[in-house]
Amino acid sequence: MSATSAIIVGASSMLSKEIARQLSAEGVALALLAHDAESIREFAEELPAPAKVYDFTIEDPQILIPQLEAVWREMTDVRLILVNTGLNSYHPELPWALEQEIIEVDVRGFAAVCNTAFRLFQKQGVGQIAAINSIAGLRGGPSVAFHAAKAFAQNYLEGLSMHAQRLKLPITITDIQLGLLDKAALQRSRLWLSPVDEVARQVVDALLKGKRRVYVTKRWRLVAWLTKLLPEYIYNTRHWKKKKSKEVSSTEQH
Ligand SMILES: NC(=O)c1ccc[n+]([C@@H]2O[C@H](COP(=O)([O-])OP(=O)(O)OC[C@H]3O[C@@H](n4cnc5c(N)ncnc54)[C@H](OP(=O)(O)O)[C@@H]3O)[C@@H](O)[C@H]2O)c1
Repeated sequence: MSATSAIIVGASSMLSKEIARQLSAEGVALALLAHDAESIREFAEELPAPAKVYDFTIEDPQILIPQLEAVWREMTDVRLILVNTGLNSYHPELPWALEQEIIEVDVRGFAAVCNTAFRLFQKQGVGQIAAINSIAGLRGGPSVAFHAAKAFAQNYLEGLSMHAQRLKLPITITDIQLGLLDKAALQRSRLWLSPVDEVARQVVDALLKGKRRVYVTKRWRLVAWLTKLLPEYIYNTRHWKKKKSKEVSSTEQH
């Protein structure tokens, strides 16, 4: 990426803000699209390079697509569109309303942003589409729609990359496979959790190098490799020994 301007879709999260900070420090002008643009206005004003904020609605592609096109028209020389939207939730009863919401944001909204970005870069003749994805997409999981949506995202990006290659277009597609940082935070795992500025640094590094796929942080590559390798009868029974039953059996032994 040799960006003079970039668009970040889903710019309100802590990680998005840190990425924005680091890109801005490189002199990249930014358009920051957020659910509630007002909530990040002050942050944008403090960035070293010019940054504007815009509202966007990911739930409805009929609104989202013209919104993204309008932002594009206001910017000059956009070289990167970074998609960092995501919705994840777990409920043991799997209520459809929740599944539907995840699919709307992580599948339909995601595809609408990437499709529009590709079309805009195709017209321009050059560009980079990057998405913060998750290693959760490598296998199914109990957050059923979320895992499936991340698999969709991975395939969608691979398809776009193939499409660009066939059209002989210099459009780079970067799939940033983030580790399960939320889970690591919940389990207070120092080994697997990294400070947000380090996570953002590795993301920005991958963007600048125009990588096709990268694991962030790097050590999650090992988890990804193991996740893909495990046969389902092991993958699916990882948690069969519940902590409680372990405690019971150890007290029984004493
Ligand atoms: N955090 C992790 O541990 C982790 C791990 C692996 C992968 N990931 C993936 O990495 C990406 C970024 O994650 P993150 O932790 O930086 O942020 P996040 O909390 O997952 O949210 C990402 C962004 O999506 C936006 N968003 C969610 N629902 C929306 C909706 N209905 N309309 C508009 N915007 C919506 C959020 O905006 P608002 O907050 O304004 O609603 C936020 O800016 C996601 O795709 C996530 O799945 C995260």
